[in-house]
Amino acid sequence: MCGIVGYVGERPCRDLLLHGLQMLEYRGYDSAGLSLLVDGRIDSVRAVGHLSELQDAVARRANGSGPPDFESTTGIAHTRWATHGGVTEDNAHPHFDTKDRVHIVLNGIVENHTELRRRLLDAGAEFTSETDAEVVAHLIAHHYAGDLVEAVRAAYNDLRGHYAFVAMTADEPGVLVGARKECPLIVGVGEGEQFLASAIPAFLRETRNVKLVNDGEIVAIRPDGVRFLDASGARLDRETIEVDWDAETAEKGGYDTFMLKEIHEQPDAVAETIADRTPGDHVELAELSDELLAGVRRIVIVACGTSYHAGLVGRYAIEEWARLPVEMDIASEYRYRNPVVGSEDLVIGISQSGETADTLAAMRLARSAGAKVLAVTNVMGSQATRDADAVIFTRAGLEIGVAATKTFVSQVAVMYLLGIKLAQVRGTLADDVITRLVGELKQLPHLMTELLERVDAPIRAIADHWKATEFFLYLGRHVGLPVALEGALKLKEISYIPTDAYAAGEMKHGPIALLDKSTPVVCIATDMPILDKVLSNSAEVRARGAHVIAVATDGSTGIDEQTDEVIYVPKSDWLLQPILAIVPLQLLAYYIATERGLNVDKPRNLAKTVTVE
Ligand code: F6R
Repeated sequence: MCGIVGYVGERPCRDLLLHGLQMLEYRGYDSAGLSLLVDGRIDSVRAVGHLSELQDAVARRANGSGPPDFESTTGIAHTRWATHGGVTEDNAHPHFDTKDRVHIVLNGIVENHTELRRRLLDAGAEFTSETDAEVVAHLIAHHYAGDLVEAVRAAYNDLRGHYAFVAMTADEPGVLVGARKECPLIVGVGEGEQFLASAIPAFLRETRNVKLVNDGEIVAIRPDGVRFLDASGARLDRETIEVDWDAETAEKGGYDTFMLKEIHEQPDAVAETIADRTPGDHVELAELSDELLAGVRRIVIVACGTSYHAGLVGRYAIEEWARLPVEMDIASEYRYRNPVVGSEDLVIGISQSGETADTLAAMRLARSAGAKVLAVTNVMGSQATRDADAVIFTRAGLEIGVAATKTFVSQVAVMYLLGIKLAQVRGTLADDVITRLVGELKQLPHLMTELLERVDAPIRAIADHWKATEFFLYLGRHVGLPVALEGALKLKEISYIPTDAYAAGEMKHGPIALLDKSTPVVCIATDMPILDKVLSNSAEVRARGAHVIAVATDGSTGIDEQTDEVIYVPKSDWLLQPILAIVPLQLLAYYIATERGLNVDKPRNLAKTVTVE
């Protein structure tokens, strides 16, 4: 999860930018850099590792033979979390064009970077990094004819993806131009100076006055003003808002809680996780050799809690797409049941922390029996990364809320990548199906952004209505079942309302006895081959007087007739629906818990990392 900060004004900005980066450190990063404009040229310093490495590198330059960058009053800076290309100084931002006149910092993903890189190489550009971001510097330089705003606008119209960037050119001191496509970008308005950053904490020490950049907009900041444009070049007005954040609110990015902030970071987390792993129309997983995957006869997934639910989604996807048998178990059960496992098995341990004792024990057991072990984790250097033969990192950034949200959707995204990759290696899906699935996978961050906006108000209303209820039931079948299980887990762990989740087909074998007129039943009724069966289960439940709240897919017909209220999620391949369907359920749990006055970031009796057995 990268961070951006830029400055134009009258003050020397080097230390302002370094401080801004420090305030964005909480997002997690593996390298950092800054570019400063002085005397008609841009000087850059980049470093791998902690911010102190960058500070040391900057100090060495200032004391040594480097240019007097401490005088610069125009600059941009960045913290990077590697996606396209390894963690190296060359891949760290800012990136620059061949003539070193245009520098940029970018958060997010440029989806059509391969095609753009080819075009720019043909036009004579020389690339110095492996990143997708670098194309943006070359593209702006390519369009530049004396007006940075126009060059950025032209570049924006060439780009596809999920990103925000800020550009500067040595030819126009005192101006920075940014563009926003779904990833956040905010102007900090000062006296004779402006900031442009990915989050308010980056400039909060200097100013509390902000202008919000909306999706699809270009913004130019100069010491004496800010100009907003849409992609066609039309001028836009923007009001200035004063934020009254204290340090704690700033840390939460303006959200009331870390959990809500992290729910809203989910599109970014998914975009970062799939990024370079979906070049063009197929999946690449550099972490796993085709040879290893081709030799696998069975997959076993072990995990706990929310990570177990991500594994369940993976089971459906892998079995459907790659036609490989997948066994799924709760790690604390698996490790004690003397499981049959061996050298033809690939055992996947999913753990956001990479430190959960039961998952680690299950992975070690499988490895000692000769299985190849793959860890899926969010934390570099965690124990799981050391106990596995291979590691696929989710790239959700630091998750502080105890209830897992953005790490869950990132784990599900990794499961989808694995399912498609296995299908490629095993030849179980036609090329056109793989192309469609990869295309739909890349659309997920966009759909999640839209979904978060559209469901917030209706979910709040549902939460308000049911906040005092004493029991909730969640139902799902097939790929809807993990969504029901995960939605119910979120509700019970943060609202403390007794909640059960069941395979809907099992209702008639006992649990239906729990229902009466006071029971809200959340039913996952997204597109799937057995949707009609889900709807008959919903009818059974309604016949007992229960109130059915369905989660369904846009365009499905007849759902509203067979349920009491419906929350629609955007359409995508039916196996991809879980990653969307969980979003309203996270929000439902969240708003019910906050309406009940509870601390959602630190629920009672729970810890973020469970290292005890
Ligand atoms: C629930 C939650 C837990 C974790 C579980 C496993 O919101 O966060 O259920 O999913 O404790 O943790 P990791 O993924 O770190 O192994």
